[in-house]
Amino acid sequence: MSMSSAEIRETFLQFFAERGHQRVPSASMIPGNDPTLLFTNAGMVPFKDVFLGTDKRNYQRATSAQRCLRAGGKHNDLENVGYTARHHTFFEMLGNFSFGDYFKQQAIEFAWQFLTEVLKLPKQKLWVTVFTEDDEAYDIWAKHIGVPEDRISRIGEKDNFWSMGDTGPCGPCSEIFYDHGEDVWGGPPGTAEEDGDRYIEIWNLVFMQYNRQADGHLEPLPNPSIDTGMGLERISAIMQGVHSNYEIDTFQRLISDAAAVIGSDDKSSKSLRVIADHIRSCSFLIVDGVTPSNEGRGYVLRRIIRRAVRHGHLLGANEPFFYKLVDSLVELMGEAYPELAEKAQTIADVLLREEQQFAKTLARGLAILADEVANLSNDVIPGDVVFKLYDTYGFPQDLTADIAREKGLSIDVEGFEKAMNEQRKRAQQASQFGIDYNQQLKTDKKSAFSGYQQVAQESQVIELFKDGETVQQLAAGEQGIVVLSETPFYAESGGQVGDTGVLRSAAGEFVVTDTQMLGKAIAHHGKAEVTLQLGDTVSAEIDSERRDNIRRNHSATHLVHAALRNLLGDHVSQKGSLVEADKMRFDFSHFEPLSAEQIAEIERVVNAEIRRNTPLTTALMDIEEAKKAGAMALFGEKYDDQVRVVRMGDFSMELCGGTHVQATGDIGLFRIASEAGIASGIRRIEVVTGAAAIAFTQQQQQRLQAIATQLKCDPLHVVERFQQWSERSRQLEKQVAQLKQQLAAQAGGDLVANAEIFNHVKVIIASLDGIDPKSLRSTVDDLKNQMGSGIVLLGTAVDAKVSLIAGVTKDLTDRVKAGDLVNQAAAVVGGKGGGRPDMAQAGGSQPEQLEHALTSAKQWLQQQLG
Ligand code: ALA
Repeated sequence: MSMSSAEIRETFLQFFAERGHQRVPSASMIPGNDPTLLFTNAGMVPFKDVFLGTDKRNYQRATSAQRCLRAGGKHNDLENVGYTARHHTFFEMLGNFSFGDYFKQQAIEFAWQFLTEVLKLPKQKLWVTVFTEDDEAYDIWAKHIGVPEDRISRIGEKDNFWSMGDTGPCGPCSEIFYDHGEDVWGGPPGTAEEDGDRYIEIWNLVFMQYNRQADGHLEPLPNPSIDTGMGLERISAIMQGVHSNYEIDTFQRLISDAAAVIGSDDKSSKSLRVIADHIRSCSFLIVDGVTPSNEGRGYVLRRIIRRAVRHGHLLGANEPFFYKLVDSLVELMGEAYPELAEKAQTIADVLLREEQQFAKTLARGLAILADEVANLSNDVIPGDVVFKLYDTYGFPQDLTADIAREKGLSIDVEGFEKAMNEQRKRAQQASQFGIDYNQQLKTDKKSAFSGYQQVAQESQVIELFKDGETVQQLAAGEQGIVVLSETPFYAESGGQVGDTGVLRSAAGEFVVTDTQMLGKAIAHHGKAEVTLQLGDTVSAEIDSERRDNIRRNHSATHLVHAALRNLLGDHVSQKGSLVEADKMRFDFSHFEPLSAEQIAEIERVVNAEIRRNTPLTTALMDIEEAKKAGAMALFGEKYDDQVRVVRMGDFSMELCGGTHVQATGDIGLFRIASEAGIASGIRRIEVVTGAAAIAFTQQQQQRLQAIATQLKCDPLHVVERFQQWSERSRQLEKQVAQLKQQLAAQAGGDLVANAEIFNHVKVIIASLDGIDPKSLRSTVDDLKNQMGSGIVLLGTAVDAKVSLIAGVTKDLTDRVKAGDLVNQAAAVVGGKGGGRPDMAQAGGSQPEQLEHALTSAKQWLQQQLG
């Protein structure tokens, strides 16, 4: 029985759905519940918290086909792709899960029934393993299912105790193997030949029982559970009667489409396998919101794309090809993954852009590498070469390793890392300007923050610092740091700058120029104008006008974040922000510049939200609850269990600790002042709001007015008026060029009439004032034509530069060479020239010598012809 991959996937899900399992769609490859995990690398990842008992679902049995990635992070198969029959960066894991419902026996029964009754795999082809100590599982297989004991192996912890990671759910497991037959070398699991390809693991049944703690200790789970995983590609290979995963339907189609777009006919090429694998991981990474960049997940994506592009190049592709495979992939997998079909255009755009970018440096980098390889004295490519390829030519380290491997070489990883570290150090040193406020300071004091509700309050001085030491008092005129028990001053965090203001005591003020966190204390930095002592009571008053501007800008970041995602798609995510009083900037992932129309649209949308004057609400929530409600969290950011959720109606909901306006209308006006790329795949906009937005708008208006005044029209008509002006200036330039030519022709006519004769040869030697050097050449041609036979030398001086040109008609070039003639003159004006025997040019730097130069050239010529 042969089944397509799509049929197997569907049959599996249906089988378990019919047995009371909830069909759960594949989650993103970016784990939502675990910032420590780079990618979803098994079907159970989205259910981690359900196993641990910290998340509840309204079902106890589930089944899914989960997209997984094993590239970067703990499980990394990137380097093996293309070289083996079964490694992939991207694969689909079919799984059935029980959360405290059925356990070992039922799980084993389901698996056996599915394989032998639904897929009808011959029982004698199946082998099983159990964890050494798991007699229960052994007995179920042997007695209940009836697998002959010589086909059950007991295996140790390394292979038969499955853990999600260093911590988290884990338990003993039982694996099912398929025997690919005598033709393939290899032995059953547990034998010395187990690494061969004959017996292949197809399904892993994990009996989840523990939560591994950071110290290694195994904490029992609230309920014993089941997690299983079967690679769709492997089972498809079996069902389709092939040995390599790359021979299954999905890959055959991708391989043949890749061959077609590249124009390669070597279907067995390893490079095509690499490309077919990589188009899947890259496309799904983009579906899940990753864009190519130089760090984290974005860099994994970049590495995979570049590896694919390089393999295309190996096959002779000299134009972008990779993005063309998106359509094929959508045809193959779009039905099972509707999000893939929806994002097809974005995926193709992102891939094309990255391909084009890498194309600029790929060939050059390869040439450099080839040179280095040719001069290698051993078989290791030095670290500094790997680094140079990385730094200047955008070659990820593993790409260079891949190329090296093809040539039987390796790379010096240590040397590369050393070079990387040195660069990092240089970069750090280069950015160590300014003061590091909190250097070496420590305090165990805590300050309460009251600045969400108020802008001023009475408080007590609980700690003072001067020159990095705690002190009892700050004298008048001294710089220092004041810590209060409670304060409305916001300490810089989450991109929002610290507040400024004053701490007023009975005697006078401490002027606060910045506020920073110091451990759990809020540190007011500034200068005492009168003596301030520990224990003093002060009135802490922030500069509330400045703070109001900061509020406007901070709330505007939330609005623009939401507007960008609505307009551009949810690949947009915040990559950084700086919220100040006079402006804010917002960095986000997006692969191309915003168009003027997109900028205008974002301004319209955000201003519409401002006019709606939606009240802003904040609430403290449980982190999971907040995420479930749809609050946007910044990826990789560490949040407490209790988070503050800032919400503006239905338009925006974000986790945020910053200070905000009361209602969106307070923002007043929102304008985008600039837009630019700051790194590959990352854009930055600068935004002004409130009074700053008015000032910005007025400035633009003033500039427009200034242009209108210059153009002598009103601002409404500047564009038409400017077009007229530029058209007129084009026409004038044309006229000037024509006049210059006429002038030169006229001068030429006079010259022919006045030509001298040296020994029967017509000779014209003259300086032409005010002639454009560019037209000299055509003048010489004209003169030669008019004379029929003769010699010309013309010179002109424009802007302290001399131009000389000599022409000799063909019949005379054996007597005088134009180059010799022009150089006679050039030498006198401090220049040198060259050209053909019938036409040569030279320059010079001494215009005052031009006449002298022509005279001396004339004398030389007279002698030559004499
Ligand atoms: N989570 C198990 C695995 O990945 C099923 O093998």
